Amino acid sequence: MQSVLQLLTTRTKQALARISAEADPLIQASQDEKFGDYQCNAAMGVAKKLGRKPRDVAQAIVDHLAIDDMCEPPEIAGPGFINFRLRPAFLAAQLAAIPKAADLTADRVGLPPAEKPEVVVVDLSSPNLAKEMHVGHLRSTVIGDCVARVLEFAGHTVHRENHVGDWGTQFGMLLAHLRHVKPEVMERPDELVIQDLESFYVEAKARFDADESFREESRQTVVALQSGDPTARRIWEAFCHESLRHCHDIYRRLGVRLIDRGESFYNGLMMEVVRRLEHLRDSGANDAVRDSEGALCIFPEGFKTREGEPLPLIVRKSDGGFNYATSDLATLIHRVETLGATRIVYVVGLSQKQHFEMLFAAARKVGWVGPRVRLEHLGFGNMLSKAGTPFKTREGGTVKLKDLLDEAVARARKVIEDQAPDDIRPQRNLGADQIAAVTETVGLAAIKYFDLCHALSSDYRFDPDIMLNLEGNTAPYMLYAYARIRSIGRKAGIDFAELPDAAVILEHPAEIALAKKLLQFADVFEILARELKPNVLTDYLYDLAKLFSRFYDKKLGVRVIDATPDELRLSRLRLCDLTARVLRLGLSLLGISTIEQM
Ligand code: ARG
Repeated sequence: MQSVLQLLTTRTKQALARISAEADPLIQASQDEKFGDYQCNAAMGVAKKLGRKPRDVAQAIVDHLAIDDMCEPPEIAGPGFINFRLRPAFLAAQLAAIPKAADLTADRVGLPPAEKPEVVVVDLSSPNLAKEMHVGHLRSTVIGDCVARVLEFAGHTVHRENHVGDWGTQFGMLLAHLRHVKPEVMERPDELVIQDLESFYVEAKARFDADESFREESRQTVVALQSGDPTARRIWEAFCHESLRHCHDIYRRLGVRLIDRGESFYNGLMMEVVRRLEHLRDSGANDAVRDSEGALCIFPEGFKTREGEPLPLIVRKSDGGFNYATSDLATLIHRVETLGATRIVYVVGLSQKQHFEMLFAAARKVGWVGPRVRLEHLGFGNMLSKAGTPFKTREGGTVKLKDLLDEAVARARKVIEDQAPDDIRPQRNLGADQIAAVTETVGLAAIKYFDLCHALSSDYRFDPDIMLNLEGNTAPYMLYAYARIRSIGRKAGIDFAELPDAAVILEHPAEIALAKKLLQFADVFEILARELKPNVLTDYLYDLAKLFSRFYDKKLGVRVIDATPDELRLSRLRLCDLTARVLRLGLSLLGISTIEQM
């Protein structure tokens, strides 16, 4: 099924062709109801090209538009905007055409799969395995999971790559420390357990700072590891395995799937990066590849030092060592050449903006990434404390992600016990296990939703009171909205999955407004899959939930369960069902599972 936006675009394109103008119809949803539901902004640009008056062009487009079945006669406004107002009969027919959901978990609510499925890499989460995951890893994990879900749902093949930091000098220190405090690891690496990774790291670091011979031992361990010494390698594997186990406890709780493929995986390919670059340098085939002060560099265009000199991306340091850029170039080779990705999305904080800009420019400059491959840094701002300061424990340490999740769940429990309206109070009919499951779901959903509803690039303050509020743009509100609709089905004594096929009837303004919002889901999904901004979806879902409240409101809306005649009752129940299905699907794309009863 084509979305309203697609239909209007196609029709307007045809009208443009009839006035011999090849132009993008520039259709978008209107910001203000005054201007109808959608508007076409193409007339101004076309007028310029044709040397005509914009309003005349707008009139010519309208004269050639065949659109009666969809809209009221379009209106021309201002300099030449064309405003479209959808007809209720069209809305009703579109909604009626959405197929029923035989299986809710596979429900697409009428959305078609992508026309051109791609291979996409989403680089997400990617903590450093030397330490335990901390609050700073929340955003990449949650946003990355959402982006991956959206692209998977669209029908792309998605590689969810957890690019963990598992290589580098820190590991020398950690392995040396491990041998001192747990010597048995040498014989039985598989049995290694480190309860508290964070204090383990702190101890190792303290020893490293205090003891010169330990520093020497750490250096030797790195050399042994990097030259492939089997014992060093086995202990390193045991350590990484144990650290990843901690990560996966969190991923499991958050419902995030990913493939662990850390920096070490690209170790061999880093040699290849250098070989290829040396070849480009020596053959003179690419003048952007040069040595600078003993380091092997790529000089992508447009990057300057503060002094205005060309800024290099250093790929091999003057001491012969590799760095973050080397490893990311090797990773790119793997993703483009082995995985065959045509879109690579890095979900990494904005503090790495320049790294990615230079990496992308350099990779294109040396020709390893061609024009058909899109590279995107989906950068995001920081999560701050409630006071707006960097997130720290009282003692100034980093806060473990696990502790943050536990806090949210504990708070969710209080909210549900103290504030939930009587009809959704869990104690009424749920057992202790079920209550625990509900609070875990609500607490984690609240954290995720609160993170995703902020514009990606802005910082936001972690605020449990706001994020768990039962009113407003929050997970509890959305989950409640869903559970409430499902309970309407139970009260009406019907199974939504078995709702008889009946016409959709749209009469009341609250009904029409809800219908329009429901149909916008396809447009919103298209924008989401293109721009990958999760708050586009949360904003939409929040609007939808609010319009549903109005629709179901005793005063402002319509009767549903006891509506007469029966066709009207069925039509309204169908709107309820469609709303629940869109909410359910939308929330699932955010990584949030709905609950039937809260
Ligand atoms: N491990 C890195 C860090 O903690 C993030 C890696 C992001 N991904 C990448 N391909 N560079 O900063």
